[in-house]
Amino acid sequence: MTETQLALPDAWRSAELPELPPLQVPDPVELFANTMYGRTPEGGRLSGAELLSREDGVLGGVANRLRHRGRVAGPLGELEFDTLMHLPSGASAEHPVPVIAALSFTGIEETIDQPERWPYAKVMDAGYAVLAVDYQQLEPDDPEPAEPGVRALFDDREQWGAVGAWAWGLSRCLDLATGVDGIDPAGAVAIGHSRLGKAALWAGAQDERFAVTIANESGCCGASLFRHPGGEDIAAITTRFPHWFIPSFAAYAGAESTLPLDQHQLLASIAPRRVYVASAEDDAWADPIGEYLAVVAARPAFADGGIGYHVRSGGHDLLEEDWLRALSFVRG
Ligand code: GCU
Repeated sequence: MTETQLALPDAWRSAELPELPPLQVPDPVELFANTMYGRTPEGGRLSGAELLSREDGVLGGVANRLRHRGRVAGPLGELEFDTLMHLPSGASAEHPVPVIAALSFTGIEETIDQPERWPYAKVMDAGYAVLAVDYQQLEPDDPEPAEPGVRALFDDREQWGAVGAWAWGLSRCLDLATGVDGIDPAGAVAIGHSRLGKAALWAGAQDERFAVTIANESGCCGASLFRHPGGEDIAAITTRFPHWFIPSFAAYAGAESTLPLDQHQLLASIAPRRVYVASAEDDAWADPIGEYLAVVAARPAFADGGIGYHVRSGGHDLLEEDWLRALSFVRG
């Protein structure tokens, strides 16, 4: 990460690292599970995937579009979800491409008409397939969900929060994608924006098949440091979104300095695999400086080129610029 790649806003140059817990801990996944995201239950799996439709030569001929219905199973039952895959038209069993597994805030069909947020054609040009899934089909984003999500497939619903369920779902999407002809299981990427960036980081920390994790503007409980003041804090996030984490996490509201962890450790837990963090200058709620400082603090855990970062002007969104800058890091 050179200074020119960083292109930091001038006002950030004097930002100082707060005092942080040590970068390396014996079992970071255990620490983050026990404190915040909860424990990912054993015994769940992708139990089926059916190809619903396939259109070849879309997006001006650069991609094929595949729709699958996936099924996940746990001890208490099964749940169906839909995926939309764009596969570069040259990809085949002999010439497979890596896949980017992406959590979407909207229905998957709507992503097709949002090229500024889902620049599929340009991602195809870069040689990647993209598999999108509507995050609320995996687990509703609601403290009292009307419909069951993946957490209802397991005995103890409170042992993990919705962020954990989305992360688990992203791994099951990777299971589905790697069963498709033309997908190379090596080099998989997890991507998410905001709350879904938190989920992507937690997926990347737990699932070693993700060679790269991209967390866009993931903020509090994502890439941003708890110990850097600014933006959302634990009181705010656990009041508005109690279902995202395990209930005991709320006890740290107003007591950030007593947390046994901070988010530079989550980034570092992904090493020696790679991680990319992106911020937006006006995205104050996500504390972009806190995201940047987490990258600075995590850097010693990575080899050269193992961690990347950008901040762009503007507000909270995952835009084409973010995809392309992250992809240029991914491709090295
Ligand atoms: C809210 C929430 C953030 C979250 C964001 C989003 O603003 O407080 O933590 O990242 O929603 O997902 O867009």
